[in-house]
Amino acid sequence: MKIELNDVGYSYQTGHHALEHINLSFEGNQSVAIIGQNGAGKTTLAKQLNGILRPTQGTLKIDGIEISGRTTSEWSKRVGYVFQNPDDQLFLETVREEFAFGPRNIGMDEETIERCIAKVAALTGLQDKLDVHPADLSPTEKKFCGIGAVVMMDPDAVVFDEPTCGQDYAGDVRLHDLIAELKREGKMRIAISHDMKFVVANFDRVVVMCQGKVLVDGTPEEVFSQVDVLRKSYVTPPPITRVAQGVGLKETVFIVPQFVEKLEDACSAQNS
Ligand SMILES: Nc1ncnc2c1ncn2[C@@H]1O[C@H](COP(=O)(O)OP(=O)(O)OP(=O)(O)O)[C@@H](O)[C@H]1O
Ligand SMILES: [Mg+2]
Repeated sequence: MKIELNDVGYSYQTGHHALEHINLSFEGNQSVAIIGQNGAGKTTLAKQLNGILRPTQGTLKIDGIEISGRTTSEWSKRVGYVFQNPDDQLFLETVREEFAFGPRNIGMDEETIERCIAKVAALTGLQDKLDVHPADLSPTEKKFCGIGAVVMMDPDAVVFDEPTCGQDYAGDVRLHDLIAELKREGKMRIAISHDMKFVVANFDRVVVMCQGKVLVDGTPEEVFSQVDVLRKSYVTPPPITRVAQGVGLKETVFIVPQFVEKLEDACSAQNS
């Protein structure tokens, strides 16, 4: 699948221009992180991707079809959006009903729905919580309930809005495994995050937003090596990346073993 944004702008009814001149294209099974300071426009951008919000300027096309031509529920079969706050997404009496709602709406038969519920419950760790009211779940479980409800639709792309926010360590590991499973299934993964360790561990492309515009778009190495640009958008690279930059390493590193290796290389080059 291909999602193309051509000169997209978005103004809220208050008149606030939350997005301006966005030109982006997401293709196939890409994995993309969208980062930037609070209020940069990340959620507003993510909500355009399946038509929850529609561009007030420019065009957004999915596989060449303008988004304005179809309803959000039609697009949700292609692109699933997991809300930043699960309370904005969940509205039914049990986890099972949350999982079944979307598929039932598109006419999936009950037997298939039950099979999908079992699979998604295992992926999200909610096997024992299917009959629990979402309000009685822990913050981590609530996030996974929202994620599960979207994954149930089997969309080609999943957009996660700050999935690590409020997660415990076990939740982080489960999320990593879930994203890896979506990758195995060939799905596009897009996530908004303030957690740079999560970003570099799970995504091959990083889009930096600042005041409603795209500031940089590239691989994690390309993006996190641009210290001055990142400062402008109030983005702080992962701690080990900053240490490496602080000691003057040329390479952009993201994990400790990589840092040690490059540091040893630099020391031996200096001594020879
Ligand atoms: N419903 C709304 N009405 C008016 N303005 C809004 C609305 N929602 C968001 N905004 C404004 O649009 C801008 C972009 O908001 P958005 O939620 O997209 O930012 P964000 O990058 O997701 O921020 P955060 O990291 O805090 O989630 C902000 O200035 C915000 O105050
Ligand atoms: Mg947001």
